[in-house]
Amino acid sequence: MLNCYQYDAFQSKSQLTYFCLDDKLKWVIRRLIMINDKKVLFSGMQATGNLTLGNYLGALKNWVKLSDEYECFYCVVDEHSITIRQDPAVLRKRARTLLTLYIAAGLNPEKNCIYYQSHVSGHAELAWILNCFTYMGELNRMTQFKDKAAKHADNINAGLFTYPVLMAADILLFQTDVVPVGIDQKQHLEITRDIAQRFNSIYGDVFTIPEAYIGKSGAKIMSLQEPTKKMSKSDENPNGSIYLMDDPDTIMRKCKKAVTDSEGHVLYRDEQPGVKNLIDIYSACTGKTPAEVEKEFDGKGYGEFKLAVGEAVKAQLKPLQDEIARLEKEKAYIDGIIKNNAEKAAYYANKTLRKVQRKVGFPDRIR
Ligand code: TYM
Repeated sequence: MLNCYQYDAFQSKSQLTYFCLDDKLKWVIRRLIMINDKKVLFSGMQATGNLTLGNYLGALKNWVKLSDEYECFYCVVDEHSITIRQDPAVLRKRARTLLTLYIAAGLNPEKNCIYYQSHVSGHAELAWILNCFTYMGELNRMTQFKDKAAKHADNINAGLFTYPVLMAADILLFQTDVVPVGIDQKQHLEITRDIAQRFNSIYGDVFTIPEAYIGKSGAKIMSLQEPTKKMSKSDENPNGSIYLMDDPDTIMRKCKKAVTDSEGHVLYRDEQPGVKNLIDIYSACTGKTPAEVEKEFDGKGYGEFKLAVGEAVKAQLKPLQDEIARLEKEKAYIDGIIKNNAEKAAYYANKTLRKVQRKVGFPDRIR
C-alpha cells in the first residue's frame, strides 16, 4: 500500500503513471488528495477514567455526524492524560479501548484518521514552540486548571498548567477549521485561537484559526445526582454518571435515581436543573427538541419520564457496547489502523511543524 511519503514521490511523476496503477492504489491516492478539498476537523478525548454519556453525547456523537463533511483527525490524547498520575498498564488499556470506541461509534477508520497522540511527535514539538508564545497570565485564567489543581493538590505539575498549549498544538498542527467539543472545552478553544492569532500576527498566515463546534443538544450533560455539576469521569459518586459500558440494568437504576424536584412537571427551565438535564439527555438520544419532549410528557409524572430516559439511553449505548466487544477481538485489524493512521497523521503534522520551525528561525534540515 502506498504511504504518504511514497505519495510525495508520486506527485513528481507523470499523470501517465497514475493511470497505470490498479484501482486500489488509485483509491488511496484520491483519498490523500481529498484533504486539500475538504475543511479539516480535529478533536480528541483523554483516556482517563471511565467515559461517560456526557463524552458520547457532547462530543463523539457529533464527530460521527460531521465525519462525512470534513477531513477528520480523531486523536486519543494520551499525552494529556499523564498530567494526572496514571497506572501505566491501565492507561495503555484505556487508550486502546478509547480508540476502539471511536470506531465502534461509527467513525470509519479508512476515511477518518484515528490515532494516538503519543505516536505523532509533532504534537509535543509544536507545543514547546507555542509555550513560548503563551503568557502565564492567560494560563492562570483557565478554569479547568483551577479545578484540577484543587482536586490534585499534591501534584500541580507544569504539564497540568500548560495543558491548554498542548491542546492548541493538537489543533493547529492540522490547520484545523472546526473542533467539535462539549461546552467545557470552550475556554481552551478561545486560548487556541489567541495563540494562533498572536503567532500569525508575527510570522504571517501560518495557522488556520479554528472554530469550536458545540452541538445543539448534549453540549453539557450534568451529573444525575448534582445537576448543577458537569457529568464527569472523575466524579466520586458513581450514581452521578452513566458510563458508556454500564449494563442496561445499571443505566435504568441510575436514571430512576436521578435527582429531580417537587414541581412535578416535565419542563425545560433553569429552575428545574435535574429535569432539564434529563430532557437534554432524552433530546440528545432521540433527536427530539426540548419543546417536543415537554409536549410528549405533558401531564405525565417523573416516574414515567425517567423510565423513558432510561430506555432511550439503553437504546443508544447497547449497539456501541456490542460493537466494542466485537472489535476488541479484531486485534490485527485494530493494529493495522493504529500503524497506518499514525503515519498519515505524522505526515500532515510535519508539514505544519516544518513551516513553523522555519518561521521561528530553526536551521534547515540537510537532506
Ligand atoms: P475530555 O477527555 O475531558 O472530554 C472529551 C470530550 O467530551 C466532552 N465532554 C462533555 N460534553 C458534554 N457533557 C459532559 N458532561 C461532558 N464531559 C466531557 C468534552 O467537552 C470533550 O469534547 N482537553 C480535552 C481533550 C483534548 C482535545 C484536544 C479536544 C485534547 N486536545 C484537541 C479537542 C481538540 C479533554 O480533556 O476532553
